[in-house]
Formats: sequence, C-alpha cells, structure tokens
Amino acid sequence: MQVITKRRTIRSFVSKPIEEKALRKCLEAGHWAPSACNRQLWEFVVVDDPQIIRKLESITQQPTPHAIYIAIFYDLTKELPGSRLGGVQSAAIAAQNLMLVAHSLGYGTKMIAGLNSPESIGRLLKAPKGVEVISLIAFGHPAQIPSPPSRGPLHEIVHRNRFHIDKMRYPNHLDAYLWDEDEVVRLQSGVVRHGGHIGFFRSSVEEDLLHESLAPIRLESQWRALFLFPHSARYINPLEERFPQTKMELLCQSEDNGYYISSELKHSLPIHVGGFTQSGLTASSYDALLLLDSGIHLPRLDKTLAEIYRLLKAEGVLYISMPSSKSPLLLKLWRERLAVSLTRTPYWRVGPIHPLNPKEMSKMLAEAGFKIGEKYFVSVERDEPQTIMGKLKLAVIKLLRRMNPAYHDLMLFKAFKAK
Ligand SMILES: Cc1cc2nc3c(=O)[nH]c(=O)nc-3n(C[C@H](O)[C@H](O)[C@H](O)COP(=O)(O)O)c2cc1C
Repeated sequence: MQVITKRRTIRSFVSKPIEEKALRKCLEAGHWAPSACNRQLWEFVVVDDPQIIRKLESITQQPTPHAIYIAIFYDLTKELPGSRLGGVQSAAIAAQNLMLVAHSLGYGTKMIAGLNSPESIGRLLKAPKGVEVISLIAFGHPAQIPSPPSRGPLHEIVHRNRFHIDKMRYPNHLDAYLWDEDEVVRLQSGVVRHGGHIGFFRSSVEEDLLHESLAPIRLESQWRALFLFPHSARYINPLEERFPQTKMELLCQSEDNGYYISSELKHSLPIHVGGFTQSGLTASSYDALLLLDSGIHLPRLDKTLAEIYRLLKAEGVLYISMPSSKSPLLLKLWRERLAVSLTRTPYWRVGPIHPLNPKEMSKMLAEAGFKIGEKYFVSVERDEPQTIMGKLKLAVIKLLRRMNPAYHDLMLFKAFKAK
C-alpha cells in the first residue's frame, strides 16, 4: 500500500544517469499488467535522445528538464472491433505498474495528459499506422517530492449495489423537493464561480423572458423591498431605475453569490447573506418581496412562502414569477431549454425545477396565507423555427396562447397577505 500512497507525480528532476537495469524493471512491470484477453497490444518507446525529447516537448508544451520519456502505445488495429476501451484500460494499467515500480526503485514519474497532438507524437516516434499513444510518462531522478495532494473521502465515491447519490455532489440529479435551505446554503457556499451567476438556479438563458415580466411590477417610493435569491442583477437594475425612491435590498444564499450580484449592480444595495436561515431578517419589515423566476428552483417552496409571509408587513405585496406552462407542449419546451442550458453550463449552474404549474402555485400561495391580487402573463417571441416540426409546434403554441392566457410562457403573481 505504501508504494501506492507514497508515489507522487514528480515535476522536477535532477541530472543523473538512469540505470538500464532499473529502466528495464519498470518496463517489465508495465508488461506484466493485465490486458484485455491477455492481448498485450502495448508498445513502449523509451525516448532518451535529447533532440527527440526537445521535439516531443514542443508538442506537449510541458518541458521537463533532466527527464527521459516512456511513451506507451497500444495497437488498436489488432483489437477486436469496439474494444477501444479495453485497449485504453490495458495501456493505462501498464502505465501505473511502470510508475509504481519506478517509485519503488527511487525514480520519479509524471504522466502527461496534455499530449496536444497524439498523431504528431506517433509521427515523431515513427509509430505504425493505427498504433496510438495512450500515455506519455516523464521519467527520471526526482529533484523534490511534493506533498501528497489530498484525496476526497472514500465513502463519497464508494457505492454498494447501486449509486447512492450525494446531493452535494450531484445537485441537479435530485428532485428539488428533497432539499432544505441549509443544504442549499452549504452548496452555494461551496461552489466555485466560473463567471456568470453562481448556480443553484438557472443560467441566463431565460433572462430576456424574465425582463419582459418586470413591466407589471409597481413599487412605491419609501417602500422597503427585498429581492429574494436573485440570480442576476439584470432584472434588479431596471427596477431600480424605474423606482429610484424604493429602498431595495437583496437576500443571497452565499457570499460568493452576493459578491457576483453586487459586481453587476449599477448602484450598491444592501445584501443579506445566508438565505432565510442565517441572515436573521426581522419579521414584518418589508413592504415588498420579489421572488422573480428563481421561485421554482427553490427547495421547499412551502417553507419559502412561510418565510415570505413572516417578513412581509401586513399590507405588503409579494411578486412571484414562474413558467406559466400549463400546456404539456410548453412544459416540454421549457425542459428542452433547460437541457440546452445544462449542456452549455457547468452542471451545478442549473438547479432543479419544481414540477409546478400555475394552479399548484396558486394553491401553495393560498396555503401559505396569501391571496392572489393579479396574474400577468408574458410570452416570448421565439425565432422562426427552421424545421417543419418546429413551425408546427410554434403554430400550436400561438393558438394555445390565443385560447388561454395560462398557455403563455411566464406568469407573474401579485399576492397579498390574506389576513
Ligand atoms: C491521465 C493523467 C494525466 C496527467 N497529466 C498530467 C500533466 O499533463 N501534467 C502534470 O503535471 N501532471 C499530470 N498528471 C498528474 C496528476 O496531476 C496527478 O496524478 C494528480 O495531481 C495527483 O497527484 P499524485 O500523482 O502526486 O498523487 C496526470 C495524471 C494522469 C493520471
């Protein structure tokens, strides 16, 4: 076990001759690796000619002074059709065997993923056609042994009999109802910001739609208004411009989220951090709460509505928006958009979507003690589709919209405390 745990990737080497005997032992260890059907279709090329090393490093762009290289090729032309994976697995095990024995003999290795152009490496080393380089290993005497980069907890990645999904690791995999706010706060605090908004909520794909939904909102001067979990300042800025006398505040779920939103704001606004749980906002202190679009991405919307009820003044108003897609067709479209944004953005940037429709939202609002004042509907003008099916879909959507307001894309509720 020590040979495994004490092996490190070595990135700097010293100039010292490499013993042929040791090198041979390492190559032998590679050759003793298991291989699919014991086909042993690997080929090892030891590169110690300084001129070839220079050319190799100009391909990999990873100069590693005083190292020689071992390139592990696999003859995929001789593999059975469809067994590329088997070939790659076999070559990878050979590489690991080689690196472990190198370590046990006091040598250092560095596997290189950034091959940049495997074909160029093949050409440089005169590999036969179809024999692919799988691994390139820098090999030499270590200049220094780095401290071990940590491994995550084993229990997180070991499953028994089936996958047991950890919410924090696969946030989009699970139904939104399974989350509670503390967990969201924890998740949000841990995520890395990759530009754009941080994301338990959605990506910016629907922001234009959101923008259109702002028109019916009215905020009085001197009102204290709280934006809940904003995922973009792009809908706060226009409201701030329209209602400059309103005292606006934001509630975010993490420092990072707050930081990002504040960087987008035209004027700085007070930002509370930590969701309802940790921000300690005072009851009955807001004239307006705005949950624009992100509502359907919130865990336990029932709890959120109870918190909103608590924070609102007796005469306060709640604006809450959501997809109004009662129609299965529109719902499907929403989900397609979501799928698009999922493929375009890091996985955690799009949160779970509640399977809510406006009727259910009305019911939840009533259960939380609200009465609905008005409902507004917003439609998005989509580009003219290129396909016949697309055109047909759009025609049906237009017809549905004419027949029933609930078939529009987005719904904005204006609600008050019932009692
Ligand atoms: C397939 C693969 C490719 C790698 N590519 C590189 C690389 O291009 N450059 C590099 O410095 N390290 C590379 N590494 C080394 C990893 O960064 C290293 O294994 C990891 O950080 C863990 O550190 P350890 O090997 O010391 O335990 C690679 C490792 C593997 C398995």
